[in-house]
Amino acid sequence: MSEQQVDTGRRRFLTVATSAVGGVAVAGVATPFLMSFFPSERAKAAGAPVEVDISKLEPGQKINVEWRGKPVWLLSRTKQQLADLPKNDPKLVDPKSEVEQQPKYCQNEARSIKPELLVAVGICTHLGCSPTFRPDLAPADLGPEWLGGFYCPCHGSKFDLAARVFKGVPAPKNLEIPPHKYLSDTRLLIGDDK
Ligand code: FES
Repeated sequence: MSEQQVDTGRRRFLTVATSAVGGVAVAGVATPFLMSFFPSERAKAAGAPVEVDISKLEPGQKINVEWRGKPVWLLSRTKQQLADLPKNDPKLVDPKSEVEQQPKYCQNEARSIKPELLVAVGICTHLGCSPTFRPDLAPADLGPEWLGGFYCPCHGSKFDLAARVFKGVPAPKNLEIPPHKYLSDTRLLIGDDK
């Protein structure tokens, strides 16, 4: 399973998530992408928290997990990506995250508990498509000032690597940051922060 496959859209995300569950059940062997804990269908529908092993997540790598039927992105940001975040501020709608799209403990420049790990709901705040991960610098289609981020091809909304929305696109708000907490250095719980 390549990262590109996971990122191309919600439908493919769901396909991958479903096959990941099967893979764990049959093989009993987990790769970094398969190490999420998937509760039962009934528990998921009720919004059960999802525990994720992040021990294999490398800087620059992104994985998806499913929570409440939505894709949640876990992106391990590099030092350079973090250093670049403030450069986007003048071009953003809500650079200080003043709109309540995140828990209080993520109302900071990186919109995260630990700066290196972004946890965000991968659903565009325009009409609900799942944006594509575009970490490449200055690609032809996104322009010379692009420092990496997420691009929603449906109607052209752009978000930076803190999931903050750019000005002049249809999406009105930053992407949502779900409640979450670290259970240890290598395990994250999504959906519960108590
Ligand atoms: S749904 Fe993302 S730009 Fe319209």
